[in-house]
Amino acid sequence: MPTPPESIFRPGLFDGRVALITGGGSGIGKAIGLELGRLGCRLVLAARKQERLDATVAAFAEQGIEATSTVCNIRHEDQVAAAVKTAVDTYGRLDFLVNNAGGQFPSPAGHIRTKGWNAVIETNLTGTFLMAREAYNAWMEQHGGAIVNIIADVQRGFPGMAHTGAARAGVDNLTKSLAIEWAHNGIRVNAVAPGIIFGSGYENYDPFFQQVFLDMRKNIPAQRLGTEEEVANSVVFLLSPAAAFISGQTLGVDGAGSLWRVNWEVPEHDNMPRFGGVEVPESPS
Ligand code: ADE
Repeated sequence: MPTPPESIFRPGLFDGRVALITGGGSGIGKAIGLELGRLGCRLVLAARKQERLDATVAAFAEQGIEATSTVCNIRHEDQVAAAVKTAVDTYGRLDFLVNNAGGQFPSPAGHIRTKGWNAVIETNLTGTFLMAREAYNAWMEQHGGAIVNIIADVQRGFPGMAHTGAARAGVDNLTKSLAIEWAHNGIRVNAVAPGIIFGSGYENYDPFFQQVFLDMRKNIPAQRLGTEEEVANSVVFLLSPAAAFISGQTLGVDGAGSLWRVNWEVPEHDNMPRFGGVEVPESPS
């Protein structure tokens, strides 16, 4: 695997610490693992596919990073409990939880079937809650810790993927509730909302969508897409002592994209109901 540039953080920053990362076998989760691991953190990588986890654990080992893996579908309570138990049994502690696993599919809202809706909510919202609850009950309630939830840029809705927008907005709110409820346990809970990130999934897109994806840079004030390493750096910051007084926050990592255009065209129409009889001219005559 390509090694990103030297870490911006202090070597040994997370010596003696243990992190559980869902979706840790690939993409942003893997980038977070690499950065935490390079800084001395021991890792438990949770994901659904054993082969991918094995490959990532082996790649990390080559870089001197200590990682173990656990197959876990975050929609299943028993597997979530087992993943947390693996961390505590293997390393004797659990300092950090990174709720990175998630999944969705593009669809106009009118075409989302109940089964698809429920699946996306169960993965992104309920799965995140289950992971946090188990980490709390099994370890963090007594020992403290830090949690980072990876969500998405959903502040202005998420047209085209309404299900995940609703789920991620739910996690944004959950982040605040848990930050308040668990503050007295010494637990900080924050979220990171990545914008458009150029990642390992790019190669799997068809050529047309690859172009659409790259063109999204025009909608970002930074005029470029973000990288997985840039998301990882924000997570590492939030887990680190540098963020000791930060909790209940959602940090956008989006090149200011959340403040500007959206990747959605509203069709030309004149269908919005009006109150009263005043006609507003379309443009000054
Ligand atoms: N990644 C996408 N969906 C997931 C799930 N249900 N469990 C774990 N990782 C996932």
